Amino acid sequence: MEAIKNSTKLLIFFFLITFLALKIQSQTLNQTNSTNDPYKLLHIIHNPNGTITRIKEFYPTVPPNTSLSLAYSKDVSLNPKKKTWVRVYLPNRPEPINLPIIVYAHGGGFILLSTATPNFDSFLSNTASQLTVLVVSIEYRLAPEHRLPAAYDDVLEALHWVKAKKDNWVKKYGDISKCILMGESAGGNIAYTVGLRASHLINKLKPLDIRGLVLIQPFFGGINRTQSEISLPDSSGLPLAITDLMWNLSLPLGANRNHQYCNPIIKNGSKKFKIMKELGWRVAIAGCDGDRLFDKQVELYKYLKKQRVNVIGNFSKGDYHGVFVTEPAKIKMVLEFIRNVFSSYLS
Ligand SMILES: *[C@@H]1O[C@H](CO)[C@@H](O)[C@H](O)[C@H]1NC(C)=O
Ligand SMILES: *[C@@H]1O[C@H](CO)[C@@H](O)[C@H](O)[C@H]1NC(C)=O
Ligand SMILES: *[C@@H]1O[C@H](CO)[C@@H](O)[C@H](O)[C@H]1NC(C)=O
Ligand SMILES: *[C@@H]1O[C@H](CO)[C@@H](O)[C@H](O)[C@H]1NC(C)=O
Ligand SMILES: *[C@@H]1O[C@H](CO)[C@@H](O)[C@H](O)[C@H]1NC(C)=O
Ligand SMILES: *[C@@H]1O[C@H](CO)[C@@H](O)[C@H](O)[C@H]1NC(C)=O
Ligand SMILES: *[C@@H]1O[C@H](CO)[C@@H](O)[C@H](O)[C@H]1NC(C)=O
Ligand SMILES: *[C@@H]1O[C@H](CO)[C@@H](O)[C@H](O)[C@H]1NC(C)=O
Repeated sequence: MEAIKNSTKLLIFFFLITFLALKIQSQTLNQTNSTNDPYKLLHIIHNPNGTITRIKEFYPTVPPNTSLSLAYSKDVSLNPKKKTWVRVYLPNRPEPINLPIIVYAHGGGFILLSTATPNFDSFLSNTASQLTVLVVSIEYRLAPEHRLPAAYDDVLEALHWVKAKKDNWVKKYGDISKCILMGESAGGNIAYTVGLRASHLINKLKPLDIRGLVLIQPFFGGINRTQSEISLPDSSGLPLAITDLMWNLSLPLGANRNHQYCNPIIKNGSKKFKIMKELGWRVAIAGCDGDRLFDKQVELYKYLKKQRVNVIGNFSKGDYHGVFVTEPAKIKMVLEFIRNVFSSYLS
């Protein structure tokens, strides 16, 4: 829990979208200095050439943890041409062998943040330690410089990288027949979309075997607003100005929020879940109703249930977007939920 304490100190700086939006909104609303300019709220600048500049002081990162701690971590190149890499976490245990592998995608609306963002890094150390798993977290390409499906491609590439056992930790300590694809916020969207794709590539991925997906407060949307999108006040974080901008900057050019990457229930395709069902994958979804994205998450849960996917929800009251990778008690809770859902693989 030391890790958590350290990272709480960084809370002021780190930039969980929610948190920042919430703080800034409440500061500015009072001062007749309110801004709903999402660029300002996110501390990014839109460049004429279509890229964005992420103002550095708001986006700190931490190096991997090589000394004694909950988990050891290291950064390994994934695809040098694309400048993608992975941060791998090994739990601090005497003889770690045959560890299940969690392949992870971080949040940030597809346009921001890093696996090395302090609270994410701390969350992943805790994940490795508490669940006794090897974690492979992907530094995928961000939009708008690289619009979707770039992030999906990178995470899929990471599955092949795990399969190839190119890394000595994966080779020595991991069990590639017990993989779980997991992500939070935009990362939850990535885990879902890549999971669907991967279910159609199982023969190519063998002997790597995916056992299911974990979607923590996944980021989805659609042109039609949900009740929670409309009714939660801006002060509860993640105002629509921000989520709309994130979709604008990340979806393929010309696409709107009814694109399948954004609105997963838009296309009625029970066929696409066929293999996932046959393989007995489990899909765990965690959410809470203080999150503007809540209704969309519940909608996805119900949709998957209707398609007879083995989906397990954990939907609680209150809180906010990002809480499960921020607050120690909630981190513990969500990891416990994951352990229960995947009890046959996780000890
Ligand atoms: C990283 O290592 C330091 C030194 O042992 C420790 O204080 C810190 O809690 C570790 N961080 C994590 C996230 O485990
Ligand atoms: C600022 O707004 C908050 C609620 O949004 C309110 O509780 C607080 O009293 C306000 N402060 C000032 C100085 O108006
Ligand atoms: C509005 O807020 C910004 C950022 O917090 C600050 O730099 C600026 O001085 C404020 N403007 C006014 C008129 O209060
Ligand atoms: C786009 O503009 C930014 C800001 O001027 C600059 O830093 C960046 O290198 C440019 N990128 C490309 C691909 O031209
Ligand atoms: C959006 O809402 C309209 C009006 O309620 C409805 O007719 C339409 O089917 C909805 N579209 C989607 C994609 O959910
Ligand atoms: C998103 O794109 C649409 C269509 O181009 C535009 O009307 C809207 O203002 C954009 N929203 C944001 C937040 O950039
Ligand atoms: C959508 O699903 C319904 C029932 O599940 C089916 O009758 C309909 O043909 C499907 N539509 C498409 C476009 O696949
Ligand atoms: C979520 O999972 C945790 C851990 O298993 C459990 O304690 C909690 O009751 C669950 N909450 C809901 C709303 O299902």
